[in-house]
Amino acid sequence: MAMFFPVLAIALSLCISNVDAATSLPQPVKLEWHYYKVHNICHDAEVYIRHQVELMMKTDKYITAKLLRLAYSDCFVSGCDASILLDGPDSEKTAPQNRGLGGFVVIDKIKTVLESRCKGKVSCADILQLATRDAVHMAGGPSYPVFTGRRDGMTSKASSVDLPSPSISWQNALKYFKSRGLDVLDMVTLLGAHSIGKTHCRQVEDRLYNNNNTLGPSMNATSLAEMRKLCPPRVRKGQSDLLVFLNPESGSSYKLTKSYYSRILTHEAVLGIDQQLLLGEDTKTITQEFAADFEDFRKSLALSMSRMGSISVLTGQQGEIRENCQVTNANLHKY
Ligand SMILES: *[C@@H]1O[C@H](CO)[C@@H](O)[C@H](O)[C@H]1NC(C)=O
Ligand SMILES: *[C@@H]1O[C@H](CO)[C@@H](O)[C@H](O)[C@H]1NC(C)=O
Repeated sequence: MAMFFPVLAIALSLCISNVDAATSLPQPVKLEWHYYKVHNICHDAEVYIRHQVELMMKTDKYITAKLLRLAYSDCFVSGCDASILLDGPDSEKTAPQNRGLGGFVVIDKIKTVLESRCKGKVSCADILQLATRDAVHMAGGPSYPVFTGRRDGMTSKASSVDLPSPSISWQNALKYFKSRGLDVLDMVTLLGAHSIGKTHCRQVEDRLYNNNNTLGPSMNATSLAEMRKLCPPRVRKGQSDLLVFLNPESGSSYKLTKSYYSRILTHEAVLGIDQQLLLGEDTKTITQEFAADFEDFRKSLALSMSRMGSISVLTGQQGEIRENCQVTNANLHKY
């Protein structure tokens, strides 16, 4: 019991000062709670979105992992402006870091429904945030208020994608999060998304076959043997790059669980960045706290998702409300 005191003290100093985070998030300056309803722009937008996510979850439980990654890829690069959704020969989605990105069909389906109900009213940027919130809730995460009123960006460039590799050190990962106004608690919390979803073997090969401990704590011997079986050395040209669960324990249940954190403590994390959390003092303390108390993680996730969803948003007269999430309105009308 004694060990929880320093844990709590650090958590508090890191700002989980509000234990009821999920119901009383600080409101981002420019966005509003229930924007579409309050201004009667599209009164039931959030209801339509939730219903669509519910329907699609019935056939594809991976939606949560896909949307979480999509939201992260959108918000960290040029802000939460749905630039990740734009098609084009040189758009963000063509960057190497965004290979294997999914969830686009989910957003497009929802957009089609919203266009038929409230034409030209609900931004793709808001749809992505709201749908992610609903999918996270359906996967055992918290439900949290998503402040709305985002507008969609007009540009999307592969060259602006600076998403780090999954083998990045925790210090550099933290620098990256801080460059977006997020802190160490947000980082450890948002990495909890790795509770679900899959990764290509290529992302972990360095840890399985030639990691000379350059990436910190090595992998648990049992996990290493299992992972090597799942990701055999790629020696032949054209040999397929298999997919493995980011968290072998909870990945197949499609549920957010605390096992992501407990497996870091037993050196069973799959990605380098996940196992790295054991190396920093704060990152380790938070990992221990979340491994011990799933509720703490859920509360923190509500707060961090909201903070991530507020990165460099466009509001007011900025940007536009896209009619089709894949193209800007100007390009849509060209053809
Ligand atoms: C790891 O160490 C071994 C033996 O010391 C060496 O042969 C190998 O090239 C190293 N691998 C990397 C990726 O540095
Ligand atoms: C390796 O994982 C097992 C569970 O699979 C655990 O019991 C053991 O303590 C772990 N070893 C280390 C060094 O953390």
